[in-house]
Amino acid sequence: MERPAIAIIGAGKVGSALAYACWRLGYRLAGVASRTAGSAATLADRIKTNWSLHAEEITRQADIVFITVPDRYVETVTEQITFSGGVVQGQFIYHVSGSLPVSVLAGAASCGARIGSMHPLQSFTFTETAWQQFQGAYMALDGDRKAVAQARELALQLGSIPFSVPGGQRTLYHAAACMASNYLIALAQCAAQLLKPCGLNEQQAVMALWPLMKGSMDNLLKVGPAKALSGPISRGDGNTVQRHVAALATTDRDTLRLYTALGHYTLNMAKKQGLLDERLMNELINSLETEMGETINETR
Ligand SMILES: NC(=O)c1ccc[n+]([C@@H]2O[C@H](COP(=O)([O-])OP(=O)(O)OC[C@H]3O[C@@H](n4cnc5c(N)ncnc54)[C@H](OP(=O)(O)O)[C@@H]3O)[C@@H](O)[C@H]2O)c1
Repeated sequence: MERPAIAIIGAGKVGSALAYACWRLGYRLAGVASRTAGSAATLADRIKTNWSLHAEEITRQADIVFITVPDRYVETVTEQITFSGGVVQGQFIYHVSGSLPVSVLAGAASCGARIGSMHPLQSFTFTETAWQQFQGAYMALDGDRKAVAQARELALQLGSIPFSVPGGQRTLYHAAACMASNYLIALAQCAAQLLKPCGLNEQQAVMALWPLMKGSMDNLLKVGPAKALSGPISRGDGNTVQRHVAALATTDRDTLRLYTALGHYTLNMAKKQGLLDERLMNELINSLETEMGETINETR
């Protein structure tokens, strides 16, 4: 049986990775549309298909449409293809956003399309091998029954692990994704800049921190968050934490706030595991709170 034809609207990081992965799986590509000719042509050339700056010209030839534009344009693009005859009865239309509800595609549903969302819980960049990142990634699905069934089939073919995220839970789901991905990068950058006075530039600092970060991640996977936790808070070394806070108070307010906020969270984790008695808990709470209060007052 002939594979469905896929249209990609938005030749960016996810659109390119998805298009290439589907092409390798043997899907037919109806074409690519993007905002600029450069992006559209580059992707179309790679997967040997047509391109256009008019999304509707591509979508009306497709069985499955992926709208892979930035979140703020998903609804506009949906309206554009809906009002210019780009939506075909029975066609599947998906967005790939983690935060948007499926209802942003409602215009297309009113023309008979099956609508849904298919969000890869993964971070994509423009690299030759980005298409491989679908393998092993969780894929959050939502939408009408047929759209979810179709998305599930494609997700499995991509090597992803499909799971359901109901509309009402989407915002928390996406906040979790941001914390685990974007904020992890921010945290690494923050730690790296603290190594500057040790004579390491940013790249050297990232390389120095990487084995430590990777080791922690490996432990997280092997034994879970509770057992993977190490460091002064889990050991109850209040004096060490106090010295950290004092040293960080000489850097900048954001770094100190980040350290103390995560310190409090870590403290609660250690408490729940019964790692700390009352006295150690209080020492740690004091270490984290006193200096922070003084610094915030100073910088106000
Ligand atoms: N990046 C990730 O790690 C990731 C992970 C999971 C989900 N997502 C989701 O994937 C979607 C796309 O994100 P991305 O990171 O791939 O973004 P991106 O790299 O910025 O790519 C977006 C693409 O959309 C095109 N575009 C913008 N406005 C358009 C319009 N009006 N019509 C047609 N094309 C338009 C841009 O075109 P030009 O290049 O031609 O200007 C660009 O190539 C978002 O919904 C995002 O939430 C991203």
